[in-house]
Amino acid sequence: MQVTLTNQPLTAIEADALFVLQFEAEGRPDTPSYAAVRAANPEWIDEVEKSGEAKGRLFETTVLHRPQGFRAKRLVLAGAGKSDKFDSATLRRLVGAAVRKAKANGCAMLALALDETYATDDFAAAVAEGVHTGNHEVDAHKSKKDERTELVEFRVVTAEKPDHLQEAFFRGNIVGEAQNFTRDLANEPGNILTPAVLVERTRHMATLVPGLEVEVLDKDRMTQLGMGSLLGVAQGSVLPPFLIIVRYKPATPSTSTDHLALVGKAVTFDTGGVSIKPADGMEKMKYDMAGGAAVLGAMMAIASLKPSIPVTAYVPTVENALGGNAQRPGDIVTSLSGKTIEVLNTDAEGRLILVDAIEYAKRQGATHMVDVATLTGAIVVALGHIHVGLFSNNDAFRQQFQASAARQGEKMWHMPLDDEYREYLKSPFADIGNIGGRYGGAITAAYFLKEWVGDLPWVHLDIAGTGWLDDNKPYMPKGPSGVCVRTFVDLAINWTVKS
Ligand code: BES
Ligand code: MN
Ligand code: ZN
Repeated sequence: MQVTLTNQPLTAIEADALFVLQFEAEGRPDTPSYAAVRAANPEWIDEVEKSGEAKGRLFETTVLHRPQGFRAKRLVLAGAGKSDKFDSATLRRLVGAAVRKAKANGCAMLALALDETYATDDFAAAVAEGVHTGNHEVDAHKSKKDERTELVEFRVVTAEKPDHLQEAFFRGNIVGEAQNFTRDLANEPGNILTPAVLVERTRHMATLVPGLEVEVLDKDRMTQLGMGSLLGVAQGSVLPPFLIIVRYKPATPSTSTDHLALVGKAVTFDTGGVSIKPADGMEKMKYDMAGGAAVLGAMMAIASLKPSIPVTAYVPTVENALGGNAQRPGDIVTSLSGKTIEVLNTDAEGRLILVDAIEYAKRQGATHMVDVATLTGAIVVALGHIHVGLFSNNDAFRQQFQASAARQGEKMWHMPLDDEYREYLKSPFADIGNIGGRYGGAITAAYFLKEWVGDLPWVHLDIAGTGWLDDNKPYMPKGPSGVCVRTFVDLAINWTVKS
């Protein structure tokens, strides 16, 4: 299903439901589409406004069956909130919520009126993304699916149909589908999505979009290279580990030497290892590969949208399990860079697999690096489930990155990374310890990574609190969120940093 654009008159649109935005505003002039609804159905509008049935509050929907003067079977006033707060992120969610509601009510053919003010590239792409992410269900493993109508069509009605809007829809379709690919991966349980299966899924994805090259380092190769930090985590599991590398190269090489590396943690299940996690809620640790999944989803979209800079993904994937050969607290491992690590807690495994991938990415010529990981419970304590924790060693690159996040409506909070935190990671027996003690846990985890990153312009994202929705939202069901995919794609497409 692709979201399409049409400039037919609103009244001529045939659909099961035609959505028209209703803003929360008294005494303000009607938008053109709302005015058209009022003109043809004045008594209905009068009644729902006066009775307070339709206030225009965000996610509210008010339905009129068989409206006068319209071909559509239903007119739906879609509450859009206050117009001064209305942005593309709000529209994305509103559209997702509208789709979810319509599917539950037997509607398969949908349309949305997009007035001139909102007929911009950002809003258009957001509509397409919202349709895909709202339409996506997490019922892949249910033999009996919930009663829902399958969405067949979603058309956006604008006054004109310029090329740039068509392209924005094309982009939105691709990015929305990529975000769903990420969500599907993150939702797979640990018995189904093992490291080897993640390799397979990556290879399969690369056959669907042209222009990606996949290379996979296996255990022998990693042993040969000396990735002792990653291998130490993997040794407790019977499942072999891998380092997945996915390369995108622009057709015409750019004049700059910039090369973006995206590094994503993919622990297919995190028991904590010998420093075992409590049983309560441990099932959620199947999404401990959400960072890797976000990176792979972004690559899928990047291959189709063809930015002008090369982008390479590095996804270290292991299971953090217990077994007779599992790593012990106190073990000392030697990472690829030669730095030694005292493993004080086997549950701080994400950083251990990331640093070998980071070192490898540096050797492969990365000039800028973004890593993303469900890294710490501490970031959830600090920021809840609202903001991604963002850390960086380079202001120019960070600002560039945050501009992408802001455009994509993905909330990210800049966290501190002062050198004083290095103290917390001291080990009497090795170059560094893998935990920093009780306080500032998200920061010490980020600082640990920085020890390997060095001066390379870098952004670290901790998505432990945002990679998974604990409750159903009007615009998305409980489960993996696919956070960061949109920002990564935006960063690559709008690349301006120059090395
Ligand atoms: N995968 C977890 C972090 C996590 C916690 C992700 C909650 C999603 C939700 C990570 O590997 C971990 O276990 N971190 C430890 C680090 C600690 C031992 C220093 C943590 O946060 O408790
Ligand atoms: Mn852990
Ligand atoms: Zn983990």
